[in-house]
Amino acid sequence: MGSKLEGDVYYPSEEVINQANVKNYDDLYKRSIEDREGFWAEQAEELDWYKKWDKVLDDSNKPFYKWYTGGKTNIIQNAIDRHLRTWRRNKLALIWEGEPGDVATYSYHALNREVSKFSNVLKSMGVQKGDIVTIYMPQIPELVIAMLACAKIGAAHSVVYGGFSVEALAERIEDAKSRVLVTADGGYRRGKPTQLKSIANDAMKRSPNIEVCICVKRTGEECYMENDRDFWYHDLMGLPIASANCETEQTDAEDMLFILYTSGTTGRPKGQVHTHGGYSVYTSTTHRMVFDIKDEDRWWCAADPGWITGHSYIVYAPLINGSTVMMYEGAPNHPYPSRWWQMVEKYGITILYTSPTAIRGLMRFGDAWPKRHDISSLRLLGSVGEPINPEAWKWYHKIIGNEKCPIMDTWWQTETGGFMITPLPVTPLKPGSATKPFFGNEVGVVNDEGKEAKAGEEGKLVIKNPWPGMARTILNDEERYVNTYWKNYEKQGWYEAGDSARIDKDGYIWVIGRIDDVIKVSGYRLGTAEIESALVSHASVSEAAAIALPHELKGNAIHTFVILKAGETESKELAEDLRNHVASEMGPIAKPETVKFVDGLPKTRSGKIMRRVLKARALGQDEGDLSTLEE
Ligand code: PRX
Repeated sequence: MGSKLEGDVYYPSEEVINQANVKNYDDLYKRSIEDREGFWAEQAEELDWYKKWDKVLDDSNKPFYKWYTGGKTNIIQNAIDRHLRTWRRNKLALIWEGEPGDVATYSYHALNREVSKFSNVLKSMGVQKGDIVTIYMPQIPELVIAMLACAKIGAAHSVVYGGFSVEALAERIEDAKSRVLVTADGGYRRGKPTQLKSIANDAMKRSPNIEVCICVKRTGEECYMENDRDFWYHDLMGLPIASANCETEQTDAEDMLFILYTSGTTGRPKGQVHTHGGYSVYTSTTHRMVFDIKDEDRWWCAADPGWITGHSYIVYAPLINGSTVMMYEGAPNHPYPSRWWQMVEKYGITILYTSPTAIRGLMRFGDAWPKRHDISSLRLLGSVGEPINPEAWKWYHKIIGNEKCPIMDTWWQTETGGFMITPLPVTPLKPGSATKPFFGNEVGVVNDEGKEAKAGEEGKLVIKNPWPGMARTILNDEERYVNTYWKNYEKQGWYEAGDSARIDKDGYIWVIGRIDDVIKVSGYRLGTAEIESALVSHASVSEAAAIALPHELKGNAIHTFVILKAGETESKELAEDLRNHVASEMGPIAKPETVKFVDGLPKTRSGKIMRRVLKARALGQDEGDLSTLEE
């Protein structure tokens, strides 16, 4: 592997190298950069197309890149239809376990049947190509079925994470102008049923464009159903309209597959638009190469399908690659901290992909829980969502991977569709580093002028090229897409990720964290602006600021500063009330750790809150350049 690498390095074993789908990173990387379009054409050849593309990359209208233009495909053609013609028809596509312990399995044949039936239900409700269906569900198979059914008929889905609450849901329904909402009465989390339908009901009151709401009965808890608007999923699936025959719509490569919202620097969330063609190629290629996918694997991405990790690596990439996907509904430590390890043993999971926050959370219960189970089926591990601290990395490697499983620390974003910086199983690993760019990608760490940082120096992370999985735009807001990602390095044509990073002497990339007003809490991405507007929507609050401070388990935690309206008095109860208010507007993950009452907030002369100053003060650090601070 060339000269000796610096620092703490873990080299792959002979066994790992021998079985790897890609054995030499450097050679293929070089080729992928020299002939990027050739590389991506080759990968696209792995998939079925109704009609092949005319052009691999159309860059005539930068930064609105298009991939595989002229091509016709539908992600379902590759994720389901093509498997039905092979022995994989009877292979398990999905193994699902509910938190109470109930189990459901679907072969590709069965998945196709359910998806086709639900496609016909959606059609009967008037859903057409190009419509956006909002999905707000717990982690149950019907969530996957609903997503796939939308894709199959050429409609787009907008999945809103089931942990979000009324305001977040209403805002997203409104932005997407959805007519149809698919939801459930609830799901199970830590032994208790959640109340999704009642949140959905409140959201529908705030955003009246929903005409049809389809509700899955999961918990059987009572919930209000409105006549002529709300229908039970199982009722509809039993009607003659829900036939098991449905043609897959032949979409253009650039037709919208889904939107997924990310939090932004202003209050409004951004609907990232992904498309059928490029996304199919990018997610399946990254999955196959990075996780060395074989037909005998049992793949478990322990994320929520409601986030990009779940979209790309629970649903689409593994199904395109014909994998058996594991999915689990509930909390990792319910009823005991061995729940995950018990399932790894029970189902013979071979690859586990999760987040640093989950690893830290399970690590704290000690080694005895995993040791109680035979988890030797595992051959590869993965991490995503935030930088993994070396201590958690080493525990994961030693206790879960038994020192034989390489850890794929994958850096990417909702916007990128799939892995951008990642090792392969053959890459020598350094704990805490996502290592090297994936094929076709050139990554830089630069200063504001675009000058490359020296080895070890911190700078802004940029991607210097387009890639097939990239978000095409922000729904209804092209200008914001350009301004957020492409404006600062317009001259160079680089994509700005919003993260800071450094590159060491060996060319290994170390991502440090967000540099914008985005907070990563337990790997979930939240905007300070959304938290602040939730606070300001409370009757007692006049102004608010939210910042992130380090937290042992969550990575970051939310801390808030609140200016009360005249006449309001501070109290412990009010602080508690405000924390709960944010949770009920946005969701429990957004609940602030602390609420501090203040008389003023540090602001620039143009009125922008200087969160950097609040953070430095809270950490007892130097406040830095205060020249723009208002008196
Ligand atoms: O800050 C980076 C962090 O997560 C951000 C993207 O968040 P989201 O769109 O929610 O997607 C998360 C799952 C892909 C990035 O800007 N991030 C993600 N993966 C890593 C990471 N930070 C460090 N190391 C990672 N492996």
